Amino acid sequence: MEFNELDAMSRPLLDKFYKAQRSGMRSAGEGRWWVARESEIVAGLSLTPIADGHWLTGLLVAAPVRGRGIARLLLDRAQVAVGGPLWLFCHPDLQGFYGHLGFMPSTELPAQLQQRLARYQASKPLVAMERVSRPGWDRGLEIALR
Ligand SMILES: CC(C)(COP(=O)(O)OP(=O)(O)OC[C@H]1O[C@@H](n2cnc3c(N)ncnc32)[C@H](O)[C@@H]1OP(=O)(O)O)[C@@H](O)C(=O)NCCC(=O)NCCS
Repeated sequence: MEFNELDAMSRPLLDKFYKAQRSGMRSAGEGRWWVARESEIVAGLSLTPIADGHWLTGLLVAAPVRGRGIARLLLDRAQVAVGGPLWLFCHPDLQGFYGHLGFMPSTELPAQLQQRLARYQASKPLVAMERVSRPGWDRGLEIALR
């Protein structure tokens, strides 16, 4: 399994992956994009820079390879690469999953995300979560991933 950041030229590959999985997800326009590949893309996500961190969207793992730790590895790699905190919005059903990966309910969302969350919450049940990049956590992980 390989974990890579996509360059702008390759971004359409991520959207092609979402489409092949029959997902309505899209890569984030202002973001950076990561994928996991076996022979082809099996997982992807976008990170959009906001304040001193990034907003995570579009985390999707192909159904046949779920439960193998791919989401965890992809997220860890991407967060090490960008540094700083990650925020996300998810359905309350996924709170357990993200909690398991070290995310906590967000207490201080950047204003931009706070406004966006309020708009989205008008039509969907969503919770905001964050995973802080702690000093030392990145370095330990970086070494573990080499
Ligand atoms: C949610 C999703 C990304 C998980 O991907 P995955 O590769 O199967 O997840 P992982 O195997 O990395 O799981 C990581 C850990 O979370 C645990 N976990 C998985 N689903 C869980 C759940 N619903 N509740 C609690 N823990 C969960 C796993 O057991 C694993 O624990 P471990 O590391 O101690 O073994 C995948 O199921 C998916 O693509 N779902 C559809 C799209 C989606 O809902 N995306 C999120 C949008 S907010």
